[in-house]
Amino acid sequence: MKRIVIVVVLLLLAAGGWWLFRSESRPSAPTSASTVDAATLKDPALIAQGEYLATVGDCASCHTRQGGALYAGGRVLPTPFGNIPSPNITPDRDTGLGEWSFEDFWQALHSGKGRHGELLYPVFSYTSFTKVSRDDALAMFAYLQSLAPVHAPAQPATLSFPYSVRNSLKAWRALYFKEGEFQRDPSKSDAWNRGAYLVQGLGHCNECHAPRDSLGGQQGNASLAGGQIPSQNWYAPDLSTQTNGGLAGWSEQDIVDLLKTGQSARGTAFGPMAEVVARSTQHMHDDDLHAMATYLQSLPPRAASVSGKTQLDTRAIMQHGAKIYAERCADCHGKDGGGVAGVYPPLNGNSSVNEPTGINAMRVVLLGGFAPVTQGNPRPYSMPPFAQQLSDADVAAVVTYIRQSWSNTASVVLERDVVKYRHTPID
Ligand code: HEC
Ligand code: HEC
Ligand code: HEC
Repeated sequence: MKRIVIVVVLLLLAAGGWWLFRSESRPSAPTSASTVDAATLKDPALIAQGEYLATVGDCASCHTRQGGALYAGGRVLPTPFGNIPSPNITPDRDTGLGEWSFEDFWQALHSGKGRHGELLYPVFSYTSFTKVSRDDALAMFAYLQSLAPVHAPAQPATLSFPYSVRNSLKAWRALYFKEGEFQRDPSKSDAWNRGAYLVQGLGHCNECHAPRDSLGGQQGNASLAGGQIPSQNWYAPDLSTQTNGGLAGWSEQDIVDLLKTGQSARGTAFGPMAEVVARSTQHMHDDDLHAMATYLQSLPPRAASVSGKTQLDTRAIMQHGAKIYAERCADCHGKDGGGVAGVYPPLNGNSSVNEPTGINAMRVVLLGGFAPVTQGNPRPYSMPPFAQQLSDADVAAVVTYIRQSWSNTASVVLERDVVKYRHTPID
């Protein structure tokens, strides 16, 4: 598999080389002098605005190592190319952004290029951040430059050839990266435009919620249609609230509740989404949350997925699953899968129960689920892990049961699927 990918990249490099060479390998321009004066960068209102925007962009989450100083980098991010540590973005002169001009910063965020023109790995979400406006980028730059500098040298990446060569990203960029600021749609409301700008840009929701191929690129324009997160065993569901969407039936308020408190009448955030809520969306202004919900509500209906209900004779599995459900799950989630409002999420119609792979439900049953602690929900209930009590066959049966009961019609999961996830560590 890996070999095929490498061969494809090399072929693409060879085929596209000449054209790419022409269009991209001008000698890297010397970093342009800043057009922004020092006084502007010290403006407290601009810095406060930048702090808010950096929270919306969740920059701290990737740029902070566990137990390390905020924004000083060092968190190692797994990608299809290998492991990439995040750099220090505090204003340290030797190891951070101390010598950077605003133009350098803009080039990183907008064009995915480092200070010396080197191509950056797309695990830095610049395929989304390219949509951010210059004004918002300037505010974030002012904020980052106002932080105390932390001396924290970059750690080496562990990438295999050809990805270890930054120029191999030329082919990737030609396929998957379209540079350009967000363009307003004048036929839509201000709230819709604000929401689209935040979701597609700074909020970088698509970095997890879009289908991706083996090179970690997004195909076509299946925006926010759901996908397995590259190199992580979690599935970020489709975000359409219309017919057959992953959030079918969610109201604007349900979405706002989930993003603000980690909990909603329709489901609870866990895994990587719990981190997004804890670090980023719970701190967003209500106007912005409503704007994002307005935009998500406008995503189109989806095609009906092929139901797994008829593919196999599942009577025995369903009976086994029903028994486990009644004994182990129904006390909290209800016989009818309706949950308990404000306490236990419903499993009926739940996007993480119905997502196409079954990964989320299998992993939550094995490992338990931890909703984020937020201001709106300071002491969330958690879901106990069942890895010790239930065998692989039991987990497959109960997960199949919840995926095919009530209004749910997702596919069967098998014992061999559970085996795969039983031993994957929590990431
Ligand atoms: C999903 C993780 C992730 C998020 C979110 C993220 N970054 Fe990064 N960022 C990275 C990684 C990893 C790199 C290094 C890429 C490389 O080495 O090619 C990087 C590189 C950068 C660089 C270039 C630094 C250098 O030394 O070349 C800047 C500037 C930057 N990020 C700023 C930001 C800002 C501002 C935000 C929030 C708006 C942000 N990042 C959000 C992971 C992330
Ligand atoms: C780091 C990856 C990641 C990012 C970035 C991300 N999500 Fe998620 N999201 C997930 C995963 C994984 C799930 C499934 C787990 C769950 O339901 O909490 C999820 C679930 C959701 C759900 C459904 C929750 C439920 O209970 O069914 C909503 C709504 C959502 N995300 C909205 C967003 C929005 C809006 C953004 C951008 C601001 C976003 N997400 C960014 C990974 C991500
Ligand atoms: C003690 C109460 C309790 C029991 C028993 C319990 N759960 Fe949960 N479950 C929860 C809570 C609380 C959450 C939300 C935590 C989270 O999302 O991180 C949850 C979340 C889930 C989720 C993810 C859905 C979502 O939106 O968060 C699934 C799937 C799930 N449970 C299935 C089951 C199954 C199957 C069983 C029986 C094997 C079970 N649960 C037993 C309390 C319970």
